[in-house]
Amino acid sequence: MGGRDEPGHDGRTGSLMLGVCYYPEHWPEDWWAEDARRMRELGIAYVRIGEFAWSRYEPRRGEFQWGWLDRAMKALGDAGLKIVLGTPTAAPPKWLMDEYPEIAPVDDQGRPRGFGSRRHYTFSSRDYWRESGRIVAALAQRYGRHPALVGWQTDNEYGCHNTVLSWGAEDLQAFRDWLRRRYQSPERLNEAWGASFWSMEVQDFDEVSLPNLTVTEPNPAARLDFWRFQSGQVAAYDRMQCEIIRRHSPGRWITHNFMGFFNEFDHWPLGEHLDFASWDSYPIGLVEHFPFDESERLRWQDSSHPDVAPFHHDLYRGVGRGRFWVMEQQPGPVNWARWNPAPARGMVRLWTLEAHAHGAEIVSYFRWRQAPFAQEQMHAGLNLPSSHELSPGGREAAAAADDLARLGNLPATARARVAIVYDYEAHWITAIEPQGADFRYPELVFRWYEAIRRLGLDVDFVRPGAGLDDYRLVLAPSLPIVSEEALQAFAAATGIVAFGPRSGSKTRGFSIPPELPPGPLQRLLRSRVLEVSSMRPGVKIAVAGAISGHAERWREVVETRAETLAIFADGAPALVAGDNYLYLACWPDAGALGSLMALLCRKAGLSTIALPAEVRLRRRGDLTFAFNYGETPWPAPFAGDPLIGARNVAPRGFSVWRS
Ligand code: GAL
Repeated sequence: MGGRDEPGHDGRTGSLMLGVCYYPEHWPEDWWAEDARRMRELGIAYVRIGEFAWSRYEPRRGEFQWGWLDRAMKALGDAGLKIVLGTPTAAPPKWLMDEYPEIAPVDDQGRPRGFGSRRHYTFSSRDYWRESGRIVAALAQRYGRHPALVGWQTDNEYGCHNTVLSWGAEDLQAFRDWLRRRYQSPERLNEAWGASFWSMEVQDFDEVSLPNLTVTEPNPAARLDFWRFQSGQVAAYDRMQCEIIRRHSPGRWITHNFMGFFNEFDHWPLGEHLDFASWDSYPIGLVEHFPFDESERLRWQDSSHPDVAPFHHDLYRGVGRGRFWVMEQQPGPVNWARWNPAPARGMVRLWTLEAHAHGAEIVSYFRWRQAPFAQEQMHAGLNLPSSHELSPGGREAAAAADDLARLGNLPATARARVAIVYDYEAHWITAIEPQGADFRYPELVFRWYEAIRRLGLDVDFVRPGAGLDDYRLVLAPSLPIVSEEALQAFAAATGIVAFGPRSGSKTRGFSIPPELPPGPLQRLLRSRVLEVSSMRPGVKIAVAGAISGHAERWREVVETRAETLAIFADGAPALVAGDNYLYLACWPDAGALGSLMALLCRKAGLSTIALPAEVRLRRRGDLTFAFNYGETPWPAPFAGDPLIGARNVAPRGFSVWRS
């Protein structure tokens, strides 16, 4: 692992906590020094560069042009900025695509995806691996020990624009090899995939085809394996880059910038080999991307929903094993959502402080200056297009730098008392086999997160199988495949553990477990699921007892030897409990979910504060932050005057107390 870049002291502590994304190749060279000076003046300490500049590094094969980057890094370094260098592999240049057209990813309809934007490569292209290794090595050899360089970003947003799953000839070849290693014989593959069904058996691994372009639904076990395989390709590709960088760039850390609401590959394994995680926070753009209903989209259109960014801060703090950055922070309107409102005044500043409250080490804005050309010309930056004048978002970044300076060194983030088990495979399984059109795993987890945060609690995300013994409350909103390791971790948990629908409902090979769902969890829950029912929008079933509200979208018929805490309208168990383990046999509406969380907190001995929909709390060490996404002040129930802000937390503002 690379060394840790410890923030030093330059008299303005808060200024050590901000960064910015900069593209020297977009601006005249005589602007660079002035830009760098103004970054420092604004309170920015870190600058990320270079992640799309391959055609400038190497305009023709083997002809490297490093002069401009030498000078750009000198200008930035001379101003006292710390540089994060991106490897440029998200945008292979035209000459390379012409040499090796089969680098291009292939969509699920079998069409190669063209040159002219970015991410036009498949992770399975051997040529691309070699070429990526070559450019990463060239960059790392040249700049790996540069005095201003503190760390690296690999590639850019793996999987963006739907590029994890590629369906080309090389993908097929690599998939067959992967299956060979995993199953060893075609008989075992046939067995694992249940291929006796519809005559799907193969006699040789070379007979396996990709699970697309079938007449009707392809075999779900094949689809799950294909997803696992491609997810593994992403992790292996990233490891390849990291190994090269570490060889040539001692003492520098490596991260990758992950995305919001993105589940196409398993992020946990990347977290293992990166020094920390980072993510790109576009809170308003994500409101359009998430399946909020129209009334929620309207309500949160220019502030975002108060759990959207925090959900990811907490998730990526987990992926990063306790450490994360926001590598790209929305500074104003973006260009890529269906509608792109300017953030309400105050929100850029609020999001910045909020990320730090959740433990971010650095919040880095995307981007320094709006580019007046090309695809993202309508995307705001901290400066107006082509100018040296701060944008409205730039002025808020300056205010955030002042807030951070006033707060000084922030204390370490403590472990939360509540953990959510987050599983990427759970998304793949329920996406492959939704069974009800609106059974969306990411949405289910988000709603559980929202409900527990409405009670004022801090949350950690953990991978299935992670140790749970320090948590008072563990939530697994749905975990279809329960591995032996995960089962052990649940069995060893000392707090309350609550499982949601479909947990334990599949084997590793995508079958129904022989003992019936919840499979291995029967040991803890002493219950079996005999039948499941998905429900169209509008159908609701009352739930009453220790919790009350309604089931929607999904319900199960459970037979139990444990205690029944709540029942459906027909008298069947809706919530069962055996010792410290609970199972919820439905998709709960907001009412049922709220009362479930309140019940769980009581059982776990956690004290709660019922917050309005617009307000959230977060502790970092001895600091308590309150964030108000709403339009009216929130009278905080805390004693004493805040360090920053008022006791009536300002609309689109925040207050911070020291306890
Ligand atoms: C991110 C990406 C950036 C830029 C930005 C615009 O997804 O990493 O390169 O495109 O979005 O919001």
